[in-house]
Amino acid sequence: MADTPVSRNIVRADGHVSGDDRAALYGHSSRTVWFTGLSGSGKSTLAFAVERALVDKGVACYVLDGDNVRFGLNRDLGFSPEDRTENIRRIGEVCRLFQDAGLVVLTAFISPYQTDRDQVRALHGPGQFVEVFVDTPIEVCEARDVKGLYAKARAGDIPEFSGISAPYEAPTTPEIRVDTSRPIDECVTHILEQLGL
Ligand code: ADX
Repeated sequence: MADTPVSRNIVRADGHVSGDDRAALYGHSSRTVWFTGLSGSGKSTLAFAVERALVDKGVACYVLDGDNVRFGLNRDLGFSPEDRTENIRRIGEVCRLFQDAGLVVLTAFISPYQTDRDQVRALHGPGQFVEVFVDTPIEVCEARDVKGLYAKARAGDIPEFSGISAPYEAPTTPEIRVDTSRPIDECVTHILEQLGL
């Protein structure tokens, strides 16, 4: 999709509340924490655990989860490369709005393409986008096969399955890398330390 809006004759409007005002209101700065990794790598589990821990500390945050968003906002999208790119583009814009609103937004999307993740990063200011690579090897994801999707993909029942018949481009320089062979509590602690929240 082109960067230029289709609409003509539109002008940006400015409000009267600054980012600093919102940080003072909530008592913390805002940012987008972007979990990327294969299906079954543990993105949602980790994002929800980090959300729980942050809310317990008084941080206003919210998880946008891949499967959940595909039931609503992105129910018109499938898993072709074009649809995945549009999926991430829309979510990136939602993240930017949440982050602008003062929240810590956590996402759990496979987001297999580096360029798509970089475009979301580019929507944010310096330090406001944190890429978290949930670095679980495909062998481990497939052995777990929590949703039974790897077996279906191997049987040819699910086309374009990430890591099997569709690409996954691992981040080369994520802000945070999670080794999910460690207990989940340790992973959550590590992420919280890295976020400084
Ligand atoms: S993304 O590639 O566009 O970022 P997203 O995170 O929204 O993917 O959705 C991935 C989820 O959809 C997986 O966790 C899995 O439950 C489900 N799914 C269904 N079909 C596929 C497929 N072909 N490839 C990957 N995930 C799939």
